[in-house]
Amino acid sequence: MTRILITSGPTRQFLDPVRYLTNASSGRMGSALAAAVIELGYEVVVVSGPVDVAYPAEAKVVPVLSTEDMLDACIREFPACDGLIGAAAPCDYRPVKCHPQKISKTGSPVQLTLMETPDVVATIGAQKRPDQWVVGFALETQDPRFRAIVKLEKKRCDLIVLNGPEAMNSSTNQVEILDPEGRVVVKLEGTKERVATGILQQIRRSLLAPQRSHDERDQTV
Ligand code: C5P
Repeated sequence: MTRILITSGPTRQFLDPVRYLTNASSGRMGSALAAAVIELGYEVVVVSGPVDVAYPAEAKVVPVLSTEDMLDACIREFPACDGLIGAAAPCDYRPVKCHPQKISKTGSPVQLTLMETPDVVATIGAQKRPDQWVVGFALETQDPRFRAIVKLEKKRCDLIVLNGPEAMNSSTNQVEILDPEGRVVVKLEGTKERVATGILQQIRRSLLAPQRSHDERDQTV
């Protein structure tokens, strides 16, 4: 049975027990992708940061808070999955130090030193088996196709979904899916549900069809 792992939503990187860095990701794209996976009759595991959206009842949902938690959960879940769709917007930075107690106001400026968090898609991309695949997302405002292809290569993705900043916290999206040769294999526009269905159809055509014929070959031996 085909099983797809999806990362979804934002992450939180705490400065102290009550304050954190985050972003405006709503998890709507991840939720729409999960529904599209179920619609195709596949299994889905969603590793999700804190969101208000609901995921389909049939999905296995693994709730996480930080980018490090998201990576740990993906490392645990990915070996039993055929592929990963990285629809989350994990925080790229975390405070070097998380204060154990709430930081008190002193009237003086506070300086934060931030360090990079791990990249979930890149880490999974580097670990994937030859029979597994990874699809990343790229949100670009400058030289979008070029930057998306650089990202695809760096993160060892098999396809990359390019969208604009208007996708954040919106009910609609406009995307292009690029392959490793830099070709635009499909353009999709509309509600996130409609776009998610199109993304899954493309994944099925490009990445799952060879696996299916492989399974069928195995069964006929
Ligand atoms: O590098 P950038 O954040 O633009 O890349 C976007 C892609 O990388 C998305 O698929 C996102 O889910 C993934 N990503 C990640 N871990 C991070 C940052 C981004 O998996 N720390």
